[in-house]
Amino acid sequence: MTTPPERLQSPEGKSRLIKHFEQSSIENHNAAWDNLWETDNSDMWDRGKPSPALIDLLEQRADILSPIAANGQRKKILVPGCGKGYDVVMLALHGFDAVGLEISAKGVSTAEEYAQKELQAPQAYNFGYAWANKFERGSVSFIQGDFFHSDCTKGEKFDVIYDYTFLCALHPNMRAQWASRMADLVFSGGLLRSVIQAHHGPCKACTGICWLRVVMESSIPPKQKQQVGTGSFERKWYIKPERSYESGQGTDMLSIYARK
Ligand SMILES: C[S@@+](CC[C@H](N)C(=O)[O-])C[C@H]1O[C@@H](n2cnc3c(N)ncnc32)[C@H](O)[C@@H]1O
Repeated sequence: MTTPPERLQSPEGKSRLIKHFEQSSIENHNAAWDNLWETDNSDMWDRGKPSPALIDLLEQRADILSPIAANGQRKKILVPGCGKGYDVVMLALHGFDAVGLEISAKGVSTAEEYAQKELQAPQAYNFGYAWANKFERGSVSFIQGDFFHSDCTKGEKFDVIYDYTFLCALHPNMRAQWASRMADLVFSGGLLRSVIQAHHGPCKACTGICWLRVVMESSIPPKQKQQVGTGSFERKWYIKPERSYESGQGTDMLSIYARK
């Protein structure tokens, strides 16, 4: 299978996406995402495969992220804004019970279709160099709903949350709410109950990332009130991955936060 062009990183794909959201108020953003799915415009951000940086972390750093908890139970991982579900499927293939959350019904049905096919015959891009079916597969499921509405997750908490281009796709005014929802969704306590944020590129490539630390770690109001975070997390690792998507190779970073 060939990898589709990484449109979000291309000036053309990025400017189409920005233009699309410039035309709608925050209240209409959910509908605006839905519209992109319904009109077959997911190519603006879709990279056509799971994150190589996350695969390497799973396969090479079991000390940071293992799918099995100390009590022997399989860990649950949430991928909010999961798109076509590449990372959700890959995480299940690496032993997690993986749940994808998507606002768009079309997004969810596309992800379900992908997962059904992919789990039958997983492609090589799901694995790195060091994986030999170390753990049994976990489960894959998808929820259609708004990340900001607690009813869609029905009070469930997760061991790990993986955010890739979700925070950075939100309006800056939503960042504090994003952090507080993250804090609600992750079990408090252990080191491995973490939020992983895969950055793509330096700050100028994604303004959301500039605020990541402020939003996650700070309880002191910065100048703009809407940017205040919950202070519920602390950063444990900040890793420059050896492999990443082609467009972020050499500039992508992985931040791993633990819920206090
Ligand atoms: C930039 S895309 C990234 C998709 C995926 N993570 C990937 O890397 O391909 C952001 C995704 O978040 C979804 N989304 C946006 N707002 C959401 C919300 N409030 N709740 C759940 N999903 C949302 C969009 O429909 C879109 O699929």
